[in-house]
Amino acid sequence: MKTQRTDDPIKAARWLRLGDCVAFPTETVYGLGADAMNADAIAKIFEAKGRPDDNPLIVHLHSIDQIDRVARDLSPAAWALFEAFSPGPLTCVVHKRDAVPDVTTAGLDTVGVRIPSLPVAQDFLSACAVPVAAPSANRSGRPSPTTWEAVRHDLDGRIRGILIGPQSPRGIESTVIDTTTQPPVMLRPGAISFEEAQRVVPALQLADTVEQKQRSPGTRHRHYAPHAAVEIVDAEAAAPDRDAGYLGLNRPKRPGTWGRVVLCRDLSDYASRLYATLRQFDREGFTRIVCEPVEPVGLGRALMDRLTRAAGHVSGETSNDAAAEEGEAPS
Ligand code: TXA
Ligand code: MG
Repeated sequence: MKTQRTDDPIKAARWLRLGDCVAFPTETVYGLGADAMNADAIAKIFEAKGRPDDNPLIVHLHSIDQIDRVARDLSPAAWALFEAFSPGPLTCVVHKRDAVPDVTTAGLDTVGVRIPSLPVAQDFLSACAVPVAAPSANRSGRPSPTTWEAVRHDLDGRIRGILIGPQSPRGIESTVIDTTTQPPVMLRPGAISFEEAQRVVPALQLADTVEQKQRSPGTRHRHYAPHAAVEIVDAEAAAPDRDAGYLGLNRPKRPGTWGRVVLCRDLSDYASRLYATLRQFDREGFTRIVCEPVEPVGLGRALMDRLTRAAGHVSGETSNDAAAEEGEAPS
């Protein structure tokens, strides 16, 4: 299949409405969209990504006014979170309507719903008019794409089209909160911090037990990994070498003896550059990537989650399962 590109949201929406997959920009990362209500179109997403079929998709809406098409019986916590953070990088897991096909939610009776804020995503979703299911637009296991070039690298020839837009400003995925439980539980840390969300829903809990983590099937799988080996090491302790790239907030020792050093201004800059830099280091042929750890609070919690997964540590499973996942993850 030839993958076409356009910067016209209306043209891209036409491809989607014909039952095909189209990648599109959002403020977090690029998504790979298909009509959420069309099971055949959804199957193409799993095929193009090489995604395990037990991993549910997030359904994207252009406005909260569309919520009744996919969800029912929203809890007060869900309404409060949408009110505070949408449009924006928040995904609420809510009870699904029967009209949403099982393939979209991997057989769950809940559905993750998100309303992106990036203007071109808004234009695309309103032109689509249907709810749009979209995982991140990478091959399964790879770092999420924050540019259209990264989407092309992973999916050229496997999807109908790419809607070209700006680099995703947040650079890290949405925060996923299960609002069907009492108390609500944050299943995946993301661009909205736990602390910010807890100000709106004081009862909110972190998913800290294995049982809770398993409720977000995607967090079970190996993720976000470049080809090079990723290490998480403090700036002062990192051993430089010419075949390694360094990414962090603080200057490493002997910066001139690294293959490349990328320094970030602050946590949000680190988050926004993480995936693009992992991909850049792969392109530059480095065999080793050293990332500086950050304190796991606020946005730092999401950043450390992605760094530890990129380094190959999968939480919430036995090491045998983790090894099996790694074997499966296409590169
Ligand atoms: O920022 C984002 O969320 C991006 C952009 C494209 O919107 N999308 C994204 O999708 O990151 P994906 O498929 O890469 O990650 C979705 C996460 C997975 O961990 C999945 O298991 C979880 O959300 N999820 C989706 N629906 C769920 C549900 N019904 N119950 C529990 N977890 C769910
Ligand atoms: Mg993903």
